[in-house]
Amino acid sequence: MPLQITVVPASTQAGTAVIRVLLGSETAPVVRGYYRDPAKAPADFTSHPSFEAVKADVSDGPTLDFSGSDAVFYVPPPTYDGRENGEVARQNAVNVNAALGAAKPSPKRLLVFSAMGAEHSSGIGILKINHISDDVLKESAPEVVIARPPYFQESLAHVFEEIKTDPPVFHSVFSPADHQVPMASLTDISNACAQKLLETGQELPARPYVFYITGPRNYSSLDVKAAAEEVTGKKIDLVTIPKDDLVTFFSKQVGAPIAAELAEMTVATLPGGLIAKDLHVYDNDKNTYKGRVELVDALRRLYKT
Ligand SMILES: NC(=O)c1ccc[n+]([C@@H]2O[C@H](COP(=O)([O-])OP(=O)(O)OC[C@H]3O[C@@H](n4cnc5c(N)ncnc54)[C@H](OP(=O)(O)O)[C@@H]3O)[C@@H](O)[C@H]2O)c1
Repeated sequence: MPLQITVVPASTQAGTAVIRVLLGSETAPVVRGYYRDPAKAPADFTSHPSFEAVKADVSDGPTLDFSGSDAVFYVPPPTYDGRENGEVARQNAVNVNAALGAAKPSPKRLLVFSAMGAEHSSGIGILKINHISDDVLKESAPEVVIARPPYFQESLAHVFEEIKTDPPVFHSVFSPADHQVPMASLTDISNACAQKLLETGQELPARPYVFYITGPRNYSSLDVKAAAEEVTGKKIDLVTIPKDDLVTFFSKQVGAPIAAELAEMTVATLPGGLIAKDLHVYDNDKNTYKGRVELVDALRRLYKT
C-alpha cells in the first residue's frame, strides 16, 4: 500500500511546496490536500492520479477527517480577519488534535510546520501561533515532528514589485543594512519536510522531534540588494526601516494588531533579538537541515521580466 499523506491547509505556501515534492517523489505516496475552496488546488495537482483535493477548514473541526492517513502535515495558518491570532491558533490546533484522536485507523506521524524562534513563549510576535500550535500538538500522534524554518527567501518577491519605480528603490525591515538574518528557500524547506513525511514509521529519538532548517548562510538587506541587482541587472537603492518605525511601516499593509505582531517578530531577528541571539544554536544543532539554495537563485526563479 502506498503511504497516504494529508496536507492541511494545502493552500499555504509550505503546503503547496511540500505537495509538489511529494507528487514528484519516487516513493509515490497518495496525497490528500485540504482546502477551504478545493477549486484553488493547482491544475498540476488535480491532474495527478495520486492527488485528491478535499474541502475542509481547520477552524471547523468536524470537517477534518484524517482516517486512513499515515501522516498529516499541519501548517498553522495566520489570521488576518481581525480575530486574535493566538486564540485562533489554539482553537485550530485543538481541532487538529481532536481529528487525529478520532481518526480510524489513526495516523502514525504528525509533522507540524513551525518557525525558528517559536521555542519562545513571548517576544516573537505573530510566531506565537507556532508556539501555541507546537504546544497543543506535541503528543498528538505516536510520532510528532516539529519543523522550524526561518523567513522564506520567497517572501522577498515584493522587491520586484517595488523596484518598478524610477529610480528603482526597495524597503527592507532588516536593519542595520549589514545585519544578517536567517532565510531559506521554500525549495529547501519543502524538501526537508517532504523527507520527514516520507520517513513515517521510522523510529524517532524523541517525541516531539524538533529540527531547524537553515539556508546555506544568513543574509542582510545589503545581500538582498546585491542579489536583486544581479538578477535584474539594475542599480537599486535600498531604504532600511529603523526598528522604531516598524509598526508604522507594517500598519500601511495590515491592521494595527497584526502590524504590532509583525514588528515584534522582525525585532526578534535584529541585533540583540531573541532569534538573533540563538543563531549559533540553529546553525550548529545536530538535527539542523542545512539548505543549499542561495538567495540569488531563489530570487532568479521569482523574477519575471
Ligand atoms: N512566510 C514565512 O516567511 C514563514 C517562515 C517561517 C514559518 N512560517 C509559518 O508558515 C505558516 C504559514 O504562514 P504564511 O504567512 O506563509 O501563510 P500562507 O502560507 O500564505 O498561508 C495562508 C493560507 O492559509 C489558508 N487558511 C487560512 N485560514 C484557514 C483555515 N481556517 N482553514 C484552511 N485554510 C486556511 C488560506 O487559504 P485560503 O484563503 O485559500 O483558504 C491562505 O492561503 C505560519 O505558521 C508561519 O508562522 C512562515
